[in-house]
Amino acid sequence: METIRTIAWMKELVRQAHAESRIIGLVPTMGALHRGHVALIERAKQDCSPVIASIFVNPKQFGPNEDFSKYPRTFDKDQEKLEQAGAHALFAPEAPEIYPPGFSSYVNVDGLSDRLEGRSRPGHFRGVATVVLKLLQIVQPDFAYFGRKDAQQSRIILQMARDLNLNTEIVVCPIIREPDGLALSSRNAYLNPDERHAATVLHRALEAARTELQAGVRDALQLQTILHATLATEPLAKLDYAEIVDAHSFEPITRISKPSYIVLAVFLGKTRLIDNLYLEPKPSAPDELDIHL
Ligand code: PAF
Repeated sequence: METIRTIAWMKELVRQAHAESRIIGLVPTMGALHRGHVALIERAKQDCSPVIASIFVNPKQFGPNEDFSKYPRTFDKDQEKLEQAGAHALFAPEAPEIYPPGFSSYVNVDGLSDRLEGRSRPGHFRGVATVVLKLLQIVQPDFAYFGRKDAQQSRIILQMARDLNLNTEIVVCPIIREPDGLALSSRNAYLNPDERHAATVLHRALEAARTELQAGVRDALQLQTILHATLATEPLAKLDYAEIVDAHSFEPITRISKPSYIVLAVFLGKTRLIDNLYLEPKPSAPDELDIHL
């Protein structure tokens, strides 16, 4: 697996792949890779060759009081994991390569970027959309793969791809979980043993909501009450938000009758974790739901 540090070198590899009519897949990451990232590479390999992974801890998507400087950086291990997973190339630019002096153009996906994660992390999605557009411009992939754990991020990237007529198809892949239900995240590495134990409360809350949904509950307030009650059982957990939202607009809804998300953001100590459950009425029986945990 080749590691590419410059945009010029990356573009040359892309030019060669296009000349050979190859289908390019991109898996953008910020490193600290886990099985969730490996699953994205494996999914990409089903559709594409070459599969290019990127590692870039994007300073523009971290707020001034967030964890940019201490974000886990495990480059050598990441390279090994990508090699083992069968990625064909790694694009790993330094920050000045992506944001040279004088950089001043940003992408803002209005509306969608202001809610939930955007409200708690002002400017976050502007940074995400900007770097993802840059990566898509540099790598020109046919397909780009994102995890559904960051549901709002995936939705914003889909909207950007549509609004800006990008030639890349955005593929959103399932959440990968630990055996006890905790969604895999690079930030799980911050948790001390007590917090790690307590962190399963996110999954427990979503499971409790799932039980209600399976019993036929569709009222958002009732589901929210269950979420809050379950989260309140964990003294180390501090709720940021627990909402039931339309899967398209990410606006709160009162009743589940169309594709929706239950989205959670919870602090365990200083670590902020997110998780979600995706609900999709069955086309053949709209009163019934497919529940994707
Ligand atoms: O999900 C992430 O790891 C990042 O937000 C992304 C998409 C790689 C952009 O920096």
